[in-house]
Amino acid sequence: MHNLRTIILAAGRGVRMRSELPKVLHEVCGKPVIGYVIAVAKSVGSLKTYVVVGYKGELVKARLGPGFVTVDQPHLAGTADAVRRVERHLKNYQGDILILCGDTPLLNRTVVKNLVRKHKQTGAAGTFLTAVVSDPRGYGRVIRNERGAAVAIREDKDASESERDIAEINVGVYCVQGRELWKALRGVELNPGKKEFYLTDIVAAFHENGLKVETVGTADPSEGLGVNTKEDLAVAQRIVRERVVRNFMLQGVTVIDPATTYIDASVKIGKDTCIRPFSFIEADVRIGERCVVGPFARLRPGTRVGNDVEIGNFTEVSRTKVGNKTLMKHFSFLGDATVGAGVNIGAGTITANFDGRRKNPTKIGDGAFIGSDTVLIAPVRIGKKALVGAGSVVTSGKNVPDGGVAVGVPARIKPRR
Ligand code: UD1
Ligand code: CA
Repeated sequence: MHNLRTIILAAGRGVRMRSELPKVLHEVCGKPVIGYVIAVAKSVGSLKTYVVVGYKGELVKARLGPGFVTVDQPHLAGTADAVRRVERHLKNYQGDILILCGDTPLLNRTVVKNLVRKHKQTGAAGTFLTAVVSDPRGYGRVIRNERGAAVAIREDKDASESERDIAEINVGVYCVQGRELWKALRGVELNPGKKEFYLTDIVAAFHENGLKVETVGTADPSEGLGVNTKEDLAVAQRIVRERVVRNFMLQGVTVIDPATTYIDASVKIGKDTCIRPFSFIEADVRIGERCVVGPFARLRPGTRVGNDVEIGNFTEVSRTKVGNKTLMKHFSFLGDATVGAGVNIGAGTITANFDGRRKNPTKIGDGAFIGSDTVLIAPVRIGKKALVGAGSVVTSGKNVPDGGVAVGVPARIKPRR
């Protein structure tokens, strides 16, 4: 959509999180909360996205990467003030502006797309997203007149007792005609209770000026969840995790027990790979086809696993490449390693990759056999088809040649068999 710009509000500290980290940088399935909102903005086809930052803004900017215009909000004077900061960037722009909150990771892109479409079709001055929820506490309530038209959004703190019973809430997604937005914002007054300027006041302003306001309702109220507390974060985490795991199953990955399978959003897994219970597969891990992972396995960021690999119980693999048909069935740790194809990693094998100062690499060639309870002190290289006897400690720099043998503590290295 060429005539659409997006503003993402992400300046708030998130006081209720009781955290030093800005709220929008807390992670849900390995991705910051704001990352989900950005993905929605992108998929809706917005040409340019403005992110309003404030509390620890430098941290937020660093995490965003390029492709955004970041706008500082020096004083956290409320959501209306945050949007107003973007006016100087958009004052000559005549089209529609989509406003999203950086703390709503469960937003559904199709619903937001529909909202933008309805906004354009009806010619409303503003259209916003609502949800009917069982526990509306903390959210702005949608006030409707006798004809059912939305005439105001009343914040929880300012709501009367009867207004508090309203179950329809403001999700925090707005599509607004740019011109009308700036006009309405000029009239927003400081909320005396919270000492903030509320963006939500533009709804009443539009209504009072005879401008049309439309709403779109979400069928799934969980999509509107705003992450305001650590408890909300855990709820978001559970919902996203369920979605991620369900998607993998639809793509042909076998998941024995979705309830105890933890897979981050950016992971890739090939078909007919089986994930057994209590496994953690973290951000940016790639796993090939027909592998077996777990139970009780932890694959950490940067790990690349080929096809037909088995990574069994009580194993941890970090920043490591594992070649096709390699087996690592029980209690092992591989860190900063490059492991070839057809390797056997015996039970209890450990790469000692950290020397107290830096992480060092381990290389294991194709077809090598690492006996049980081996310690490989990095940096070290084990050649192709080499054999390391059970219980050996291969010290750093004592590389084992292709076809060689290493045995003992510290390991004696024998040349090609
Ligand atoms: C807001 C809405 C409420 C809605 C809810 C949905 C207002 C006044 N209220 O309430 O109607 O039901 O979202 O989740 O808008 N922010 C800034 N600068 C500020 C203040 C906030 O950028 O000065 C950002 C925050 O980082 C956050 C978003 O705006 O991403 C919403 O702010 P928050 O304080 O979470 O508003 P709520 O009280 O949840
Ligand atoms: Ca919020």
